[in-house]
Amino acid sequence: MAQLLLGQTLSFTANPWHAPIADAVNHERRGAVLVENGYIRAVGNADDLRAKHPDAKVTDHGDSLIMAGFIDAHAHYSQTAIIASWGKRLIDWLNTYTFPEETRFADREYADQVAKTYLDLNLSNGITTACAYCTIHPESVDAYFEAAQKRGLRMLGGKVMMDRNAPDELRDTAQSGYDDSKALLRKWHNVDRLSYVITPRFAPTSTETQLEATGALWAEFPDCLMQTHLSEQAEEIAWVQDLFPDQQDYLAVYEHFGLTGPGAVLGHSIYLSDREWDAVKASGSSLAHCPTSNAFIGSGLFNAKRAHEMHIPTGLATDIGGGSSFSMLRTMASAYEIGQLRGDALHPAQLLWMATQGSADALLVGNKIGNLVVGREGDIVVINLASTPVIEQRVARAENFWEVVFPTIMLGDDRAIEAVYVNGQPVG
Ligand code: GUN
Ligand code: ZN
Repeated sequence: MAQLLLGQTLSFTANPWHAPIADAVNHERRGAVLVENGYIRAVGNADDLRAKHPDAKVTDHGDSLIMAGFIDAHAHYSQTAIIASWGKRLIDWLNTYTFPEETRFADREYADQVAKTYLDLNLSNGITTACAYCTIHPESVDAYFEAAQKRGLRMLGGKVMMDRNAPDELRDTAQSGYDDSKALLRKWHNVDRLSYVITPRFAPTSTETQLEATGALWAEFPDCLMQTHLSEQAEEIAWVQDLFPDQQDYLAVYEHFGLTGPGAVLGHSIYLSDREWDAVKASGSSLAHCPTSNAFIGSGLFNAKRAHEMHIPTGLATDIGGGSSFSMLRTMASAYEIGQLRGDALHPAQLLWMATQGSADALLVGNKIGNLVVGREGDIVVINLASTPVIEQRVARAENFWEVVFPTIMLGDDRAIEAVYVNGQPVG
């Protein structure tokens, strides 16, 4: 049966990084969204749509804001339990907290339990799609996709490949990494709403042989995404230079092995040279901005303005558990703060874009999800714009719509998430 959701609605008519905000955003004060058979069928004025669809089941969300569900372009579901681990920079953080935790995913029951917790936390924060790293264990991928499938979610992810510079229990080989990834890809890719993502962790944890096998696998299955990390921290970049002395820079390693191009999702990408920026753009690769992680692990300030000026598809990402929050509101706030530290004041519309359509474009699903427009899948978040006393008192002073929205971006969390719809169905 058709459902009509009433509230304020927000849709993008253009990219607010490239068009004036007033031309890029369609805001209806008394709006409505018609959802049927999992798809958005109409978006418009509440009175108009009520008159046109008198038989639809009406859910009135009052003054709350209805928009596309949030999309997390880069996360590690396997790091859910070690979020907020103290005191380390990237390499020590991986060795001290991350790798020991990831060894636990050899146990299928543990993987099932964390996958469930991870998806529950995502949904309570309005995240309806994520692109996740699992661990090297094929079981961790089965646990992730089975849990996502049960919830009807559009989710992306894949088995991490590492054949050096990681503990014994966390290493595959070039051959087994290739074979296991291929078997998982055949098992899960394009099943229901699931997509397999080829996942070499990052250059330091793969031998040249493994990177070569990974490039060959992607060439065999070019409609899959490929995700990895790039230029996150100074020590990491120096390490890559030592490990690959023949390559001129970090990105050149991935280029050499055929690991750039449309569908390559490069996490962090903070310290790119002019050559690397140009090569990312020329290749058609995507970037994932991980602001809470970049602050928490002490990595640095990603240049979101430059990425958008260059028209590079760029998503917003929690990077759980290097990232310090499951909230995409908090993640947008962190992106805003990092913009300020660079001298760039990102507009709330630009932040919301990155968290929805920007991430969808970066993951090559921008025609399926990411915007509240006719024909998209019914993944929707409903946001209470006065969810706490501090937000409420600030909103009382607001003089326009953006002054109503911005306090929730800066101060909101899961308490602001009033409802979530997945494939047109209310969650929980
Ligand atoms: N680089 C390689 N692996 C990781 C990881 O798990 N998290 C982050 N933030 N960076 C990485
Ligand atoms: Zn990451």
